[in-house]
Amino acid sequence: LKPIRVGLLGFGVVGSGTWNVLARNAEEIARRAGRQIEIVRIATRTPSKAIDVVGDQISVDNDLHALVNDPSIDIVIELIGGTTLARELVLTAINNGKHVITANKALLAIHGNEIFKLASDKHVMVAFEAAVAGGIPIIKAIREGLTANRIQWVAGIINGTTNFILTEMREKGLPFADVLKQAQSLGYAEADPTFDIEGVDAAHKLTLLASIAFGIPVQFDKVYVEGISHLAPEDIEAADRLNYRIKLLGLAIRRETGLELRVHPCLVPKHKLIASVEGVMNAVMVKGDAVQETLYYGAGAGSEPTASAVVADLVDVTRLHTADPEHRVPHLAFQADALADYTI
Ligand code: HSE
Repeated sequence: LKPIRVGLLGFGVVGSGTWNVLARNAEEIARRAGRQIEIVRIATRTPSKAIDVVGDQISVDNDLHALVNDPSIDIVIELIGGTTLARELVLTAINNGKHVITANKALLAIHGNEIFKLASDKHVMVAFEAAVAGGIPIIKAIREGLTANRIQWVAGIINGTTNFILTEMREKGLPFADVLKQAQSLGYAEADPTFDIEGVDAAHKLTLLASIAFGIPVQFDKVYVEGISHLAPEDIEAADRLNYRIKLLGLAIRRETGLELRVHPCLVPKHKLIASVEGVMNAVMVKGDAVQETLYYGAGAGSEPTASAVVADLVDVTRLHTADPEHRVPHLAFQADALADYTI
């Protein structure tokens, strides 16, 4: 089999991590995928940074549109972020019959229904493991591992930056602004960090989790959203004295009247497992009617943890594409089992 050909849009924290992980573990990854996976082209706003890492072995430029129109490319990985240009590029790639892998939760939470519909019409896959909870394979866990279950609820810490801020403020007594700067320099925060601290990023991810868990379209506008910017150090100390931790949680709960979707700071008793999830780590609990409660834990942001999820999608998409080159496989979005709008 010829190598599968991949184009990479964006070469920031996650893009460079993806390149490094693929290069380092190439042999094992190819064995698992059943063929070689080659990044053959990179388009990024600052090509010089990518050239420093990848050298002159492949084409690197700033022509994002040319990459999604390149007929030799089978899979496009979108890692540029944002919802305008990214939407245009992803729709063009799909229209050109390419599979898409993205870590862009904002894009899918806002335009997911349009993107998944087009992918379905064009018989290509859209995979987004890296969009939710960084390196934790939570999309695959819910979609495949728990597929026998009627999911009752999903709850978790799904934003690394805010969990890092809350942890550092409590443990080191550092001011909010200083810890946020640290999270930015470590590559955890969004380009616009208000998305993290106001709960919007967690709400984007919750929207996607709910879509997978409950088989519904993405409905970001139905999520109640509250962040951590109004929390003072005194709140964290008071919670501590009462034996609680403050955690920003995303909650998707099946009620008799519909689904409840919310993101807000919660008081979690210290003896609960999720209370000891610290720093950039994420944790997601899922309750299914057969399996009961399950818990998934890992790094929620950062270069290689997120790249781990991108490469997992690359292997998945490569396997499915190879098994059925006509792309007549279900795209990797939601199980379209109950498409009614029934959130409350
Ligand atoms: N800004 C996000 C976070 C990155 O802190 O969780 C990973 O999605």
